[in-house]
Amino acid sequence: MARSTTQFVCQSCGTAHSRWVGRCEGCDEWNTIVEEASSGAAPIGGKAGGWTKGAKGKPIELVALDGKAAAAPRRITGIAEFDRVSGGGLVRGSALLIGGDPGIGKSTLLLQVTAAIGGDARCAYISGEESIDQLRMRARRLGVIEAPVELAAATNVRDILATLNAADGPEIVVVDSIQTMFIDALDSAPGTVAQVRASAQELIRLAKRRGFTLLIVGHVTKDGLIAGPRVLEHMVDTVLYFEGERSHQFRILRAVKNRFGPTDEIGVFEMTDKGLIEVPNPSALFLADRQGEVAGAAVFAGIEGSRPMLVEIQALVAPSPLATPRRAVVGWDSGRLAMVLAVLEARCGLSFTGNEVYLNVAGGLRITEPAADLAVAAALTSSLTGVPVPADMVVFGEIGLSGEARTVSQTDARLKEAGKLGFTRALAPQRGKKGRGKAKTGNISVQEIADLGGLVAMFRDGGGAAIRAVGG
Ligand code: TYD
Ligand code: MG
Repeated sequence: MARSTTQFVCQSCGTAHSRWVGRCEGCDEWNTIVEEASSGAAPIGGKAGGWTKGAKGKPIELVALDGKAAAAPRRITGIAEFDRVSGGGLVRGSALLIGGDPGIGKSTLLLQVTAAIGGDARCAYISGEESIDQLRMRARRLGVIEAPVELAAATNVRDILATLNAADGPEIVVVDSIQTMFIDALDSAPGTVAQVRASAQELIRLAKRRGFTLLIVGHVTKDGLIAGPRVLEHMVDTVLYFEGERSHQFRILRAVKNRFGPTDEIGVFEMTDKGLIEVPNPSALFLADRQGEVAGAAVFAGIEGSRPMLVEIQALVAPSPLATPRRAVVGWDSGRLAMVLAVLEARCGLSFTGNEVYLNVAGGLRITEPAADLAVAAALTSSLTGVPVPADMVVFGEIGLSGEARTVSQTDARLKEAGKLGFTRALAPQRGKKGRGKAKTGNISVQEIADLGGLVAMFRDGGGAAIRAVGG
């Protein structure tokens, strides 16, 4: 008789504990431990050898390293933004996880992707969240109702495996979402780590064996984890995150792991009433609502993956009645903002004390590049002094703790993109040791600065008394 035991599994990292604890010993998260039954299932993190007792394994074949490897056959979807992020199309027998907040548009994206491939390969869309009618309704709205995509509403993994385990089965399979799937042999509820992990494992195993591409949808919980999830991230070949503000029309598809392509690549979409539309030139869109010359805004010439992208960084520095004034950031790292503020205060004599500081990356983009430091510093200084950054100027560069401006990669690509969008000036760290000055790249005249002092001086020149007042 199978011994029925319970164990306490962290829903964040999957570590199993023998008793309930408030804080996971694996990942130090609080309140993530849930009791799960483990009858019949293999012991998770249990005694070594417990899995393999009894039945004998059969020998596996070992081969030389330098054998022929066929290039991963890829299935191009024709949705360019999706193809680029996935590394050039969907790879046979691979598993992708598409993560994102509920309602962000994952189902919409995958229905559009399968519809786009539909004619070339058999696609199956298995939904555990919506009924067939609801799926059809969405397809009608997206204008893809004619596409040869096969639908199913199912949640039992055993049934799904039985359906897909056929020689002439579909080549692309969407499972929406993994949190609704369950294996009936497990006692835990759908959505728990045990169910999510076991369901994904079984589906991925079949995908490898049958050679179909598996697209798994995973919802992200509010603290940024897909429920049951870090576990999933390393089981799949590719992890894509679909992000953006729900109230905003932009959606960013970001590769955070890819065994068959580059990471850090992003795809930009716009959510419309007819579904997601690709945005081939995001810079123009991100800058579309720009006000021109206003204090507190700077255009950052960034690089996202392989693509240069211009975005507006907005800062608001306002007097605060609070003892500890607020600091709030949308789209950037708050620790990094604290650092830039500290450097501006310590090295340039500016004072933000008694002021609230808000920072916002316009358009709902999230920037992770350190190259944004200088643009953030420019926006902050501009807001503090009331002197606008020139409307035809882009800013980029990293800032060091001693206030030095450090060069960043792909300067030329950044300048070229800025030139394409009609900018004529750039503020950037100086290249080489030749001393600060002006250089010309293409149509852009580059004002090179060695440190933050050079940046602040720019506002002082243009802004007169304001800066002197705060600078003491
Ligand atoms: P959905 O794909 O269901 O999100 P997820 O699968 O990530 O939970 O997207 C739902 C949202 O998208 C919903 O708020 C409505 C919006 N939407 C549109 O704006 N236009 C459309 O054509 C569709 C299908 C959805
Ligand atoms: Mg959905």
